[in-house]
Amino acid sequence: MADLPPLSTQNTRGSVSSVPMHEVDPSPVDDDGPEGPEYGTNPADIDASKLPASSHTTTNWLGLTPARTLHILSAVQKYSVVPFSAYLTMHYTNTALVPLFTRSAREADKYLLLTRPYYQSFPLEPLLIFVPVVTHVASGIALRLYRRRITARRHGAETLSQRRKMRSKIPWPKFSWTSAAGYALYPMFVAHVLSMRIIPKKIDGSSASVGLRYFAHGIAQDPYVGMAGYTLFVCVASYHVVSGAAKFLRLSAEYIIGGGDEGQRRRKWRGRIVNGVAAALASAWIAGGLGVVGTSGRGTGWEASHWDKIYRAMPVIGRLF
Ligand code: HEM
Repeated sequence: MADLPPLSTQNTRGSVSSVPMHEVDPSPVDDDGPEGPEYGTNPADIDASKLPASSHTTTNWLGLTPARTLHILSAVQKYSVVPFSAYLTMHYTNTALVPLFTRSAREADKYLLLTRPYYQSFPLEPLLIFVPVVTHVASGIALRLYRRRITARRHGAETLSQRRKMRSKIPWPKFSWTSAAGYALYPMFVAHVLSMRIIPKKIDGSSASVGLRYFAHGIAQDPYVGMAGYTLFVCVASYHVVSGAAKFLRLSAEYIIGGGDEGQRRRKWRGRIVNGVAAALASAWIAGGLGVVGTSGRGTGWEASHWDKIYRAMPVIGRLF
């Protein structure tokens, strides 16, 4: 057979890598790292084949395998936000959009009072607000603890006493920016609900004296603390809600498959779009809720002294009144 001509006169090996193949360290293709596999956000993302072998054979006191337990906990965390999203849509309309359009806290208050019966009546209030938020946070914490337990199994700690001995060596699951924002949001959320709903209800027996002007009265007591605190609150809330929804709807960057420069470019743009939507929502909240409502000033007369009495009952913040 005649000698075939070379395909290229250049040394193409050099264009792939300057390191010869025999000098490259071998590494497993499917390397999960010491923390185990990435579990993903959606229940369907849990890849049971990546869990330790014992995860498929052992069951807990409920008769569930660890893979099934993970699946149920992530489903609870995902779907528990649905009722609260309905409330938050109404709340965003009342506290950001309506003030922006009416340009007046007094006018916007009328719309807040109009929709209030839909979410403040029993059993709608616990069903739309309290139970979903507590379930979402509790299932998130349970998932974190449970994933760490599976990581412990991966390290060979099957029993409780083995896990206790290895406690300091077992890594915690990584925090995504979305989950970190969720944990940062919770104390601010509790403070907001205490001052806007729980304490007024305890003092007056209802929310009759509470509305956007009551909110404005609180901000006016110390505008620097009030504006800074609420700017942080709405920014963290907008980021958590938008980036979390993108993950649950599989629209976030990590759900874009495809490698190379094109995949990387698409992931980068998707991240920018998600952050852009969060920034737009936060900006409208700052403009309407703080720019219009927050700057409408203190109340007067008996109304103001009654509002002071409610705010004074707040832990920590009450000292400002
Ligand atoms: C500038 C932004 C905000 C303003 C001006 C504002 C204003 C208010 C007002 C006036 C109330 C009590 C009156 C009522 O709804 O009938 C309230 C309650 C509440 N807010 Fe906000 N809010 C803001 C941001 C937020 C955020 C970011 C969240 C959650 C992520 C939130 C969650 C709630 C909840 C759960 C309640 C209690 C509802 C109830 O049980 O009746 N708010 N807010």
